[in-house]
Amino acid sequence: MVLKMYDQKGKENALKQVHHIVAVLGGKGGVGKSTVTLNLALALSKRGRKVGILDADIYGPSIPYLMGGSTLGSIERHQEKIVPPLIRGVRVMSVAFFKKRKQASVVRAPIANRIIEQFLSEVFWGDLDDLLIDFPPGTGDIQITLMQKACLSGSVMVTTPQEIALIDVRKSMQMCFDMEVPVLGIVENMSYFLHKQSKERIALFGEGGGKLLADEWEVPLIGQVPIDPMISILGDQGESIFENKTFSSESFCEIAARLESALKKVECEEGFSSKHQKWVWDHE
Ligand SMILES: Nc1ncnc2c1ncn2[C@@H]1O[C@H](COP(=O)(O)OP(=O)(O)OP(=O)(O)O)[C@@H](O)[C@H]1O
Ligand SMILES: [Mg+2]
Repeated sequence: MVLKMYDQKGKENALKQVHHIVAVLGGKGGVGKSTVTLNLALALSKRGRKVGILDADIYGPSIPYLMGGSTLGSIERHQEKIVPPLIRGVRVMSVAFFKKRKQASVVRAPIANRIIEQFLSEVFWGDLDDLLIDFPPGTGDIQITLMQKACLSGSVMVTTPQEIALIDVRKSMQMCFDMEVPVLGIVENMSYFLHKQSKERIALFGEGGGKLLADEWEVPLIGQVPIDPMISILGDQGESIFENKTFSSESFCEIAARLESALKKVECEEGFSSKHQKWVWDHE
């Protein structure tokens, strides 16, 4: 086995027309990684960017369900690669498209890794400004594979305000640091509940976690998303918070603007183009 490098012009590189690949992760389960991935993608798309989502949660995919489009009519192909369906203007790929809703993904880690590799190399992502990857919880095999092989421009770290979430999120921060993936920003989800009448912000899950993490690691806090019951109600119905104009949609628009600026800064950094070179294991 030899380590072979494919550059951006390399024919084999299915991601060559994807400008930025951004991991959305957070270590802890249930902090809102998928919610942030989806709504950040929709907000970036509203800003005129061409966006895709790779749902990397092999064991618990949720993006297609949240988007109300978990069934593929027929699989479209281009240059022998699968074309991700366009749902609400966003290219989406997920294992959910290839299994029945109640069917579990019962696969061992090497197979899960292989699926991830196929999503990166055998999917025709086409010309995209941003490909967001919805990471599964934890810091295991799939996360390592993605960090090694997805040519990430950086990551967005999702946390909730309380200490119990920070314990796991810090592990993901350390993983990004160890694997040289720049953390472009922290998003504190479920930050507060906005009282309808008094407009008072009630810290249901504690406060300050996002800021604490940002200070500890010297990375910017790029947004705070309030607790918005409509997020889960509309998510269950596969409907968009933007089309329904819920109050939390504003937060995602702000986060998208900040992420876009962060990505522009990355582009100016020396060595950015070399980051777009891809190392792959070539079996001989
Ligand atoms: N700001 C919010 N306000 C209200 N509900 C929210 C908010 N963010 C997420 N939720 C709800 O919390 C639940 C968990 O969110 P989500 O699935 O996005 O988390 P996750 O981190 O991706 O979870 P997992 O680790 O299982 O992949 C969902 O029911 C979602 O609708
Ligand atoms: Mg998720």
